[in-house]
Amino acid sequence: MSKGQFAQPCNNPHLPQLYLETYGCQMNVADSEIVVSIMRENGYAVTSQIGQADIILINTCSVRENAEQRIWRRLAALKKTKETKPDLLVGIIGCMAERLKEKLLENETGVDLVIGPDAYRDLPNLISTALTGQKAVNVMLSREEMYGDIPPVYQDTNTVSAFVTIMRGCNNRCSYCVVPFTRGIERSKDPKMILADVQRLSLLGFKEVTLIGQNVDSYRWRTRGAKNSIDFARLLDVVAASVPTLRIRFSTSHPKDMSDAVLHTMASYPNICKHIHLPVQSGSTRILKLMNRGYSREWYMDRISAIRTILPECSVTTDIIAGFCTETEEDHQDTLSLMQWTGFDFAYMFKYSERPGTIAASDLEDDVPEAVKGSRLNDIITLQNSLSVESKSKDLNRIVEVLVEGKSKRSDQDLFGRTSQNKVVVFPRGNNNIGDLVKVKINAYTAATLLGKE
Ligand code: SAH
Ligand code: SF4
Ligand code: F3S
Repeated sequence: MSKGQFAQPCNNPHLPQLYLETYGCQMNVADSEIVVSIMRENGYAVTSQIGQADIILINTCSVRENAEQRIWRRLAALKKTKETKPDLLVGIIGCMAERLKEKLLENETGVDLVIGPDAYRDLPNLISTALTGQKAVNVMLSREEMYGDIPPVYQDTNTVSAFVTIMRGCNNRCSYCVVPFTRGIERSKDPKMILADVQRLSLLGFKEVTLIGQNVDSYRWRTRGAKNSIDFARLLDVVAASVPTLRIRFSTSHPKDMSDAVLHTMASYPNICKHIHLPVQSGSTRILKLMNRGYSREWYMDRISAIRTILPECSVTTDIIAGFCTETEEDHQDTLSLMQWTGFDFAYMFKYSERPGTIAASDLEDDVPEAVKGSRLNDIITLQNSLSVESKSKDLNRIVEVLVEGKSKRSDQDLFGRTSQNKVVVFPRGNNNIGDLVKVKINAYTAATLLGKE
């Protein structure tokens, strides 16, 4: 998950300057690339210096309460900046804009624009309105919007790896989750557009693409009049075949929908990375039912067994929520034992955070005390730490292929990159460059990183 990434500058001091900050998941990172494209098309340049901004846009996340609190704190700081620069426009875009709508304008928050994830085409109009001193809001969700015709401006400092959005929205109703409300109904992008995006990235020199959506397994495209539809396994097949020298990743998979067909497609292409992010949320069938996840503990284990059989080299990472409504110590132990059984390579771990408007907020009581949530989260983090070490230890003395993404933060003499399994590797630079695929022999490891030599 990204934490307040800044758009890379495309400098022209004579143009009005946009400063863009991005919070939340990969979907927001990809959306910010669309926003930059729209803004540039409309005469804005991007600056990395907040002091030079004529407009500040904050692409926000609502998934947990603390994500929103962080934005409120940011807004309070920006309000001070505005006092010294009255012409400055401040816009809240993304999921929090969609969830809170006009409420973001109440109580003198200093916000001038509120724009939901499906309304970015309207940015130029909304800015014109805001420039006249009126508040500008568009939080309409769409059944079709894919921004397929807008070429994203890849703004990350990383020029090796990029995201390609293949679907938007979510039709699941996980009882704890705000995403279906902030991102609307699920829609898939035309495979022709996806192929064009991937090929464009290849021409631009990128070496890896990640196909993203809230639930990539429910990707489905039906051409008008055609008998058959294209599902995710087929899409993956076509994409991997079209760019054999590019690494392909995807996220997020949903345990209830992840098919063997996807696993077989992964097995048949060396350029599809052997890594699946498969959020489990809980190891207790009772809790999974209350979460409305659509699978049981046993179903999840069956999916893991299928991965182990079809893709023995595949890594599996996950998301876990500690202390969901009514969770007992026994449910918690079920989560720990499932983690142990699966041997996750990595996990994102969270305390349950009740979100207004969700099914859990209206039908279930958030009854696990904060201290218990905290101690269960601690158990989960401690266990995952040892599983992460175990996962890394398996690579000791092995030769792994690393796609180099950049210089190591600690030393200019070292490079870092990722294996197919998405494990980070740091190794001495030698004659290698960013974007190279390098064979590295692993000689040490920590919970987070593999260390090695060419
Ligand atoms: N579409 C993905 C993930 C979306 S949100 C999926 O279905 O798996 C990313 C993660 O945030 C979720 O997997 C979940 O673990 C966590 N999350 C979502 N809502 C939450 C909440 N209300 N409290 C705590 N964690 C939450
Ligand atoms: Fe949220 Fe569930 Fe959709 Fe993921 S699948 S975005 S957790 S509702
Ligand atoms: Fe992503 Fe957060 Fe929205 S996780 S979809 S940015 S609520």
